Amino acid sequence: MIKLQKNLLKWYQTHGRHDLPWRNTDNIYHIYLSEIMLQQTQVGRVRDEYYPQFLEQFPTLEALCNAPLDNVLAAWSGLGYYSRARNLHKSAQIVQNNLPKTEEELLKLPGIGQYTASAICCFGHHQNIPVVDTNIARVIKRFFALDNPSTLGMWKVAAEFVNAKEPRSHNLAMMDLGSMICLPKNPKCEECPLRKECQGILEPQLYTQTKKKEYESLDLFYGILIQNNQIALTPACGNMYKNMLELPEVEPIEKDFIARYKHSYTKYRLNVNLYTIEETSSEIVWVDLSRLELAPISSLVKKAKKFINETLIQFADYKVGDIFVE
Ligand code: ADE
Repeated sequence: MIKLQKNLLKWYQTHGRHDLPWRNTDNIYHIYLSEIMLQQTQVGRVRDEYYPQFLEQFPTLEALCNAPLDNVLAAWSGLGYYSRARNLHKSAQIVQNNLPKTEEELLKLPGIGQYTASAICCFGHHQNIPVVDTNIARVIKRFFALDNPSTLGMWKVAAEFVNAKEPRSHNLAMMDLGSMICLPKNPKCEECPLRKECQGILEPQLYTQTKKKEYESLDLFYGILIQNNQIALTPACGNMYKNMLELPEVEPIEKDFIARYKHSYTKYRLNVNLYTIEETSSEIVWVDLSRLELAPISSLVKKAKKFINETLIQFADYKVGDIFVE
């Protein structure tokens, strides 16, 4: 076991992703933020597009706590799964700059589950505890040839394998091994530092879940209403986009059709249809077109911007209602 742990750490020293900014800080808020962003978003997008900008705008937990939710959602705009931002903001208000240091206390905060609590405690406080995300789970399942283990069973095995002297590096190494070597399809076993003792090496595919994703197709119809360089948005209903602004929904009228585009969100494959409108019964929040990017809008609305711009050009040339009429 000790030899394996050493091989793993040696591999991590040479091949691990040491340049990730949240791995080069002791700031617990930064680590917390990174784990929330990384929950459902790829590392590259978080590192390049969201994490630095978010921290520039909300450099401390206190700044986050004092910021209006609208601003937090606007900074999250495009990242998806907006409940993460709402929970982050709510948690900041609960803890008042003192993020708990134990898994037990962290688990009481909204948006923090077992993985996130242990990641914060291990990566931020160097606690000797297991961390199991999907990548680490795959490594463990293969290495110990666990067939359909329970979640609890998996965490128990992970706990036995943690290097008590260097738990942080151990868990980060396991994470990187899972995402770089022990891949779901075609794992690179010949490069793996654990290969000599791996019990799943002969049939690595046996230990990967191949749950087929199920998608749902939806047609959506939105209205574009522009007056005085302002666009009419409306408070989103439903939990998914709560506290965000979206385009008003309309009954489609073919002559007012502007554009159609596809958008994917969680399990949905959306066909978005845009129409010009002159009024709406929805509650309106007018947003300056030049400030649209600063509003709490989703990628779906951001994507509509291109067509809104094209519509504006048409507005400049024709009267409303003339558009697309021969
Ligand atoms: N480093 C620390 N936590 C991470 C995560 N969730 N994903 C990728 N790299 C990480």
